[in-house]
Amino acid sequence: MNNKSTVDEIRERFDNDVERFSSIDTGQVSTIDAQISLEIITESAKRIVPGANRLLDVGCGAGNYTLKMLSKIQNLECTLLDLSKPMLDKAHERVTPATANVVKTLQSDVRTAQLPEDYFDIILAGAVLHHLRDDNDWEYVFNKLYKLLKNNGCLMISDLVTQDSAVLTNYTWECYENYLNKIAGKEYARKVLAYVEKEDTPRSINYQMELMKKAGFRNIEILHKNVCFAAFAGIK
Ligand SMILES: C[S@@+](CC[C@H](N)C(=O)[O-])C[C@H]1O[C@@H](n2cnc3c(N)ncnc32)[C@H](O)[C@@H]1O
Repeated sequence: MNNKSTVDEIRERFDNDVERFSSIDTGQVSTIDAQISLEIITESAKRIVPGANRLLDVGCGAGNYTLKMLSKIQNLECTLLDLSKPMLDKAHERVTPATANVVKTLQSDVRTAQLPEDYFDIILAGAVLHHLRDDNDWEYVFNKLYKLLKNNGCLMISDLVTQDSAVLTNYTWECYENYLNKIAGKEYARKVLAYVEKEDTPRSINYQMELMKKAGFRNIEILHKNVCFAAFAGIK
């Protein structure tokens, strides 16, 4: 794990990738079922908290998840959190015309972000938690996100995941490589998998659901899974 990207390296990488992430089609081309997961987690959030007022988008990138959420619940107060300032600027530019409510931005690591507790109705975490590193990081962030939510609020996650058995994790990476080969060729597959190797430390759905239980979430739901990508949720 020691040769994995640092937080600064991750920030720098995303600072230079804003345009790609400014469209759900191009930003998530390497994510299997990106649009299906986005639709499911935002529609589920709407059904869990129909009267939601305050949204937090963790690792908001250029704002795709918030924009989709606003297409389902209008005029949410939006808090956009990201490591990358250029991503936040782009997200602010895109989200502001989509809500009549306040749009706040916070450039921070989710681990250290100063945010109000018992405040948010919906927290979205799209393709971001796989950047967390060791067990302490993961447990700390799940506890923190739980505390930021109001009662009956929900944490909606869409992310790269592993399996609990190494043999099946290897199998899903193999399937993923075949998928990438098919959509854009061998060189593209090599590049994406090299990024994953350098930058990401994903965990299984079971691992994350255990942490959610421990944090206190009363309901934990798997919403979608295809190979090494999954969408799941916790309700406080
Ligand atoms: C793969 S992009 C996904 C962006 C957006 N959620 C989407 O799906 O379009 C991941 C984003 O998370 C941000 N990020 C990575 N690690 C983070 C951390 N520890 N705290 C806050 N943001 C982080 C990156 O800067 C990047 O903008």
